[in-house]
Amino acid sequence: MPRPLVTRTAALLVLLIGPSCAGSAATDDPDAGMLAFNNHCRQCHSYIKGDNRLGPSLYGVVGRKAGTAPGYGNYSDSVKNSGITWTPENIEKWITNPEAFIPNNNMKPFGGVADADVRRKIISFLAADTKMHNAATGSGSGE
Ligand code: HEC
Repeated sequence: MPRPLVTRTAALLVLLIGPSCAGSAATDDPDAGMLAFNNHCRQCHSYIKGDNRLGPSLYGVVGRKAGTAPGYGNYSDSVKNSGITWTPENIEKWITNPEAFIPNNNMKPFGGVADADVRRKIISFLAADTKMHNAATGSGSGE
């Protein structure tokens, strides 16, 4: 006797939905990135173009040379002269432990984000923002 259709359908649904749910939890949800940014960075940074606060605007920061946000006047010499470009890898090191990455910086009293998963979310949020920015300006550079 064949198994009832309902059971088979239910089993199939579990197969279909189960893995796809797990998959979507693991991918980068832009809202989660924004939330993490708001929790850890927004007290000092905006991601809106030209909106410099205590820290420089992070609009289009991925791929930008350190110390070059237009109109921002509170850079430390350490960041200005670091010569680095804000690749995702460098941002990762910076927000893990700013003082270890570029000593004598002005990003105080921010002590870093301990959770690697949260760091990853913040960086992909900033990278997505940079992509929109580059699409809008038609430029590949971070200006
Ligand atoms: C307490 C305030 C504060 C917090 C919190 C903070 N920042 Fe900053 N940030 C600053 C300041 C001030 C600078 C300028 C540092 C310097 O020039 O030494 C800066 C610089 C930066 C830069 C370099 C930008 C450039 O144009 O070179 C990046 C990237 C950055 N912050 C990312 C972040 C991220 C991501 C977070 C959250 C995880 C964060 N910051 C949290 C204040 C803060």
